[in-house]
Amino acid sequence: MIMDKEKKTMLSCVQPSGKLTLGNYLGAMRNWVGLQDDYNCIFSVANEHAITVRQVPAELRRNTLEVLAQYIACGLDPQKTILFIQSHVAAHAELAWILNCYTMFGELSRMTQFKDKSARHADNVNAGLFTYPTLMAADILLYQADYVPVGIDQVQHVELTRNIAQRFNNLFPNTFTMPEAYLGKVGAKVMSLQDPAKKMSKSDDNTNSFILLLDKPEDIMRKFKRAVTDSDNRIVRAEDKPGVSNLIGIYALATNQTPEQVEAEFEGKGYGDFKTACGEAVVEMLRPIREGTEDLLKNKDYLEQVYKEGAQQAAYLARKTMDKVHRKIGFVAK
Ligand code: TYM
Repeated sequence: MIMDKEKKTMLSCVQPSGKLTLGNYLGAMRNWVGLQDDYNCIFSVANEHAITVRQVPAELRRNTLEVLAQYIACGLDPQKTILFIQSHVAAHAELAWILNCYTMFGELSRMTQFKDKSARHADNVNAGLFTYPTLMAADILLYQADYVPVGIDQVQHVELTRNIAQRFNNLFPNTFTMPEAYLGKVGAKVMSLQDPAKKMSKSDDNTNSFILLLDKPEDIMRKFKRAVTDSDNRIVRAEDKPGVSNLIGIYALATNQTPEQVEAEFEGKGYGDFKTACGEAVVEMLRPIREGTEDLLKNKDYLEQVYKEGAQQAAYLARKTMDKVHRKIGFVAK
């Protein structure tokens, strides 16, 4: 892929710290697919972010390739879009160090994800977990991205990236493009099926709370049947009906309808029917992704070709920014 100067640039990443969920898909990857023709798109597998919590090396390797395969199976096209593995482009870690020196301790301390993760991994509150957002800022700023398509939970990190870019540009004008978070109209926050006050997350201890993209159909059906709702038995969205509202959002996306159409379709029907319909719709939506991913994982040579070419293209773009940054801050040229 060559960068088209007429088009704006989109960048985003997913961590391979486990299996991807319906939240990752609906909040992020599904939206990316439709952006490929209108933007220069760069999507990476953030394996450097993943090691901020302990990983089993063999699993991390497998999950990294699995995320890449899922990117392609979801419809990201390596001919149109740069797909690569973060650790293959050394400039990410290089720029992250520099940005660390322009990021305040207080700013990082306020990050919700840091507070959550340090509470969850109290025995391993490492420096990487703390400076995680500066690595994310490096991912974004290296490619002079205009937009960052993410779910709501990542918006705080994009805002911090803007603050860092602003501070840097004030000291060294015209270094970085100012990025903006880009949220899908719906799906930006898919909630847990067991506790709809929490976002759906792969790190939840209760496996019934999330749907994995590679879950078998019978598991998807079971998880939807057990989804927490309420005792009101009306299929409408309301603040005091977070479980049902979440299911309506998921079903609407899975069947390409508006939430209003879903409410009309299920008027007068009960939760049992609705949950079965949700399960079936999600099974059908995910079927091609699961099957496509399984096929791609059998073709490691193809995946290798994709991530190697992607890294080459990404490294070229990243180097241009690094040279500029080095020059601006006073590092002697090589
Ligand atoms: P990660 O790996 O946790 O999630 C990947 C993407 O999925 C979205 N997402 C959700 N959206 C809606 N509902 C949910 N329940 C849900 N769960 C996850 C996330 O918002 C995200 O868009 N730090 C990032 C990865 C990252 C990154 C970046 C993102 C690293 N570098 C640069 C953008 C730009 C993260 O942990 O996402």
